[in-house]
Amino acid sequence: MRLDKYLSQCTQLTRSLATTAIRQGRVRVNEKIIKSSSQKINEDTDIVLLNGQALADKLGHRYFILNKPAGFICANHDLEHKVVFELLNNEINLDRLHTVGRLDVDTTGLVLISDDGQWSHTITSPKYHQEKTYHVELAQPLIEDAQEQVEKGIMLHGETHLTKPGKLEHISDTHVSLSITEGRYHQVKRMFAALGNRVVGLHRHSIGELALDETLQEGEYRALTPQEVLLLGKTS
Ligand code: URA
Repeated sequence: MRLDKYLSQCTQLTRSLATTAIRQGRVRVNEKIIKSSSQKINEDTDIVLLNGQALADKLGHRYFILNKPAGFICANHDLEHKVVFELLNNEINLDRLHTVGRLDVDTTGLVLISDDGQWSHTITSPKYHQEKTYHVELAQPLIEDAQEQVEKGIMLHGETHLTKPGKLEHISDTHVSLSITEGRYHQVKRMFAALGNRVVGLHRHSIGELALDETLQEGEYRALTPQEVLLLGKTS
């Protein structure tokens, strides 16, 4: 779609005021000032800023990062457990938001939340190879060839396809870092079960190039910056 058309659709600006804003250098597309109204943009992947503000917000798309504590589940409602959306106490229309993939109730760490289904898909689909990195505490030291097995792919109980190659780093005898690009049901716990071990602590540290903020305490969240949204939504 043309930039001027997109701008006037997402804001109160008429087409000619949108053109003026573009000519005045007040519009950036993916961090670059664009002065041509006829510039074509991709509404799904490009981040357009007017006066430094993301237009996606005006379209209703919202993007958050949360440091999930244990005891909360990644669902909009639940009769038994607390849900992560209870932690987004400053936000409205919570039912329009979803978590980008899920962490188990006892898993802590990085959860992305949005109302942009296409963006979420680029993060959860193995097709786009976005690495999810977990810090894992194990019940016992790992078997010797664990790293090799993770790199080759592991056959999970009850499945017919190997997991996609992952990366395993030893931090100590019973503490490792695991990076995977899929999100099968209880995947990390099942991978270590297949290696004859048991996960006793699981924390997601990063997704793609976005790591959990040092400043974000358990239970805290913040909006992603337009640059972070763009970085994670990249499909190549
Ligand atoms: N794998 C798991 O087993 N649990 C999680 O919460 C995330 C990945």
